[in-house]
Amino acid sequence: MQTTSTQIYKNHNNQENMETTLMCFFYYLFITFCYYFANSALAIESPKYTVIQSESDFQIRLYNESSWISAPSSGTNSFEQSTKIGFHRLYQYIHGANLNSSKLAITAPILTRIPSPVSSEVGYSVRMYVSPHFQGKPPQPNPELKLQLEKWKSQCIAVRKFSGYAKDDNINKEIEALVSSLNKQIDKTSEIVHDVSSYTIAQYNASFRNTERVNEVWINVSGFRTDC
Ligand SMILES: *[C@@H]1O[C@H](CO)[C@@H](O)[C@H](O)[C@H]1NC(C)=O
Ligand SMILES: *[C@@H]1O[C@H](CO)[C@@H](O)[C@H](O)[C@H]1NC(C)=O
Ligand SMILES: *[C@@H]1O[C@H](CO)[C@@H](O)[C@H](O)[C@H]1NC(C)=O
Ligand SMILES: *[C@@H]1O[C@H](CO)[C@@H](O)[C@H](O)[C@H]1NC(C)=O
Repeated sequence: MQTTSTQIYKNHNNQENMETTLMCFFYYLFITFCYYFANSALAIESPKYTVIQSESDFQIRLYNESSWISAPSSGTNSFEQSTKIGFHRLYQYIHGANLNSSKLAITAPILTRIPSPVSSEVGYSVRMYVSPHFQGKPPQPNPELKLQLEKWKSQCIAVRKFSGYAKDDNINKEIEALVSSLNKQIDKTSEIVHDVSSYTIAQYNASFRNTERVNEVWINVSGFRTDC
């Protein structure tokens, strides 16, 4: 349990933390934005979902339909490198590198899709949820950024949380833990299917946050309910 004074401090800072979080994902590049956002009243938006099942070690969420912007990356097999390179392109897009020169608000989480060893899909891709103001009508990215706009149908996703930094050397163990939890569910209810072609790591915090970091493993699933 936290002491009372810690708790008050935490509550007071929570809003600020959220705002600063992703804007400062690579804070050494964007340090001025960090200061700006730490003092502004804007909240970071995230895609909307409802929880349809909660277990001790994972959750099944139903995400609403949504628009995403995706940066496919090639030339590296590193999760950390792919995330850095992809995020940089997404960052340019939301800061006006699109055909309308529109500025989009940053959102959380940043997703990195990792191809699974058993899949024919190749390459990582990094995704950002399109800010609510532009949902359904995101501006076209400048072609040289090689970004793709994606429209997601509503989708059930199995989610496992983990703390600390998401790194090349710890994500596999988290992915395996979620796969193993899902396999136990599948033994109980045979209609449940999980997508084995890729896994996704969701990161919610700026890199300079070294405590209370929130990350998740996401795997698309179906068969938990009739609507997902
Ligand atoms: C990290 O992100 C999570 C989810 O948005 C948030 O609840 C938490 O406060 C953030 N941690 C810090 C230290 O900002
Ligand atoms: C789901 O998305 C649709 C269209 O994008 C929107 O009209 C609706 O309000 C959303 N529902 C929730 C629960 O956010
Ligand atoms: C971008 O510009 C085009 C052409 O002017 C316009 O039709 C479109 O609605 C704009 N899109 C956004 C998201 O502002
Ligand atoms: C998960 O499902 C959505 C919606 O059906 C789809 O667009 C997306 O590509 C899938 N994600 C992964 C990582 O397979």
